[in-house]
Amino acid sequence: MKKIEAVFRHSQLEKVKQALNDVGVKGMTIVEVRGAGKQKGYTETYRGSKVTINLRPKVELKTIIPDEMVEQAVEAIVENARTGQIGDGKIFISNIEETVRIRTGEKGTETLT
Ligand SMILES: Nc1ncnc2c1ncn2[C@@H]1O[C@H](COP(=O)(O)OP(=O)(O)OP(=O)(O)O)[C@@H](O)[C@H]1O
Ligand SMILES: [Mg+2]
Repeated sequence: MKKIEAVFRHSQLEKVKQALNDVGVKGMTIVEVRGAGKQKGYTETYRGSKVTINLRPKVELKTIIPDEMVEQAVEAIVENARTGQIGDGKIFISNIEETVRIRTGEKGTETLT
């Protein structure tokens, strides 16, 4: 199982959610976040002035999915979160050891699909 954490623009959330639904992603958590990447939240470089990090609002979508869904899910996010402008966001992928559905006590991938 893998955890996909995708940070991207609010404007793309509905498209991304729809595309993930279409590839069979069932559960997700959305968090409102503020962040910055390579440009530190600025669209122009301020040379000579003291650079501070300008945190901009984004959404973070987290979903835990079976390994075999990762490729399609990442493609769905990339294609639907992209506008082509700087600040489109990033996807982080990590391993998940175990999941438990609290209602039934089921464990593992059967809790995800
Ligand atoms: N290394 C990182 N660690 C954690 N969060 C990050 C990291 N890089 C980017 N983010 C998150 O992703 C959001 C969007 O980053 P952004 O798309 O600007 O990345 P970038 O590397 O600057 O790429 P681009 O050149 O396309 O702007 C940030 O606001 C931040 O929340
Ligand atoms: Mg950036």
